[in-house]
Amino acid sequence: MLKRSLAALAISAGIWAGSAHAETISAFCAPTEFDFCTSVAKAWKDKTGNEAKINKMPALLDDAIPLYQQLLAAKSTDVDVLFLDVIWLGMFKNNLLDISKAIPQADQDKHFASTLGAAKLDGKLVAMPAYMDVGLMFYRKDLLEKYGKQPPKTWDELTATAKEIQDKERADGKADLWGYAWQAKSYEGLTCDAIELVASNGGGTIISDDGKVTIDSPQAAEAIERAKGWIGTISPEGVLNYDEEASRAIFESGNAVFHRNWPYVWGTSHAPGSAIIDKVGVMPLPVGKAGEKSSGCLGPMYYGVSKFSAKADAATDFVNFITGPEMQKKRAIDAAVNPSIPALYSDPDVLAKIPFLKDNQQAFADSAVRPSGYTGTSYNRVSQAFYRSVHDMLSGGGDIKSGLTTLAARLEKLKESR
Ligand code: GLC
Repeated sequence: MLKRSLAALAISAGIWAGSAHAETISAFCAPTEFDFCTSVAKAWKDKTGNEAKINKMPALLDDAIPLYQQLLAAKSTDVDVLFLDVIWLGMFKNNLLDISKAIPQADQDKHFASTLGAAKLDGKLVAMPAYMDVGLMFYRKDLLEKYGKQPPKTWDELTATAKEIQDKERADGKADLWGYAWQAKSYEGLTCDAIELVASNGGGTIISDDGKVTIDSPQAAEAIERAKGWIGTISPEGVLNYDEEASRAIFESGNAVFHRNWPYVWGTSHAPGSAIIDKVGVMPLPVGKAGEKSSGCLGPMYYGVSKFSAKADAATDFVNFITGPEMQKKRAIDAAVNPSIPALYSDPDVLAKIPFLKDNQQAFADSAVRPSGYTGTSYNRVSQAFYRSVHDMLSGGGDIKSGLTTLAARLEKLKESR
């Protein structure tokens, strides 16, 4: 009793009972997560007395790969918690702590089983899911209504609708309006955009789950050809250098009819500063032709603990806290990011913020999964070869069919160096 009231006193005085052993850990967070992570660190400090120093990752997530590689190769104890893209798990698995025992089973079981499963490698749990990502199509509801258009089901319908609205709005004085803003810069995001186009056209996901290179197909050529036709017609030339944020800026300034991005754009396009509040619709990505499956790129993100952390217990506790239901709910409400915890998909507060959340579960089920499972440590080289070659096809004059044949031969070699 006395002990308990002393603890209560310590807490009310702002000193946590365990503060004699308080630790400071260091965590990486994506720039788009920075404010969220800072508030999580504060909540974690209030709960445990421990501090989390938040380090902002490079603006382009791809640039975190060499940074992590350096830190981990040097067995650095400077960083305890790593923010991880799903496609990096295989790459970094040998340098991530097995947290399967330290995270209570009941907490693990709260997450989508397949998403948690993607972090179980070689019998170890190397990270915990933080949120779900899937490619979605955002559009200007008001403009589609104005011109009596339905949300397009196929890429050809999207092309035609985008062109018609763009032309009519331009004729009406909206000189800066474009039909479609997406990501075609030479980076991982283009692997996502292109895999979506190819998979939804019946052309598979570059390399199949059992290791067959599938990219050299007429369906893939047709999908890339169609996308090439957008550049300079319904998409600005600049799209060849757009990542998510650059393309989002066009859409949220009111200058694009359609916009492919991740679910967070629902939050940003309704935040102060957006020119399109309440004018936004969202739907699954179109397909190549009727009968094909919408294929949003699947991109869950994770937090894991470095194997070289000198404060593994505190770091694991932070990982469980930032990926747990309370913080995922906060992230969903603050930023419309999709949780990896199914129970939150029927939470009224979350649904008030993200009304279409339940539909996204179908988008997760139908998604295109990048071939990081098969390629493991060679994924990054495979993806680089893919996006560089697609970027060349989109921007250059070369023949797309022979470009794909050359790419396939290169991937045959790369996929085996895992
Ligand atoms: C998002 C996705 C991630 C993907 C990246 C590409 O962050 O969550 O999986 O690799 O976009 O830019």
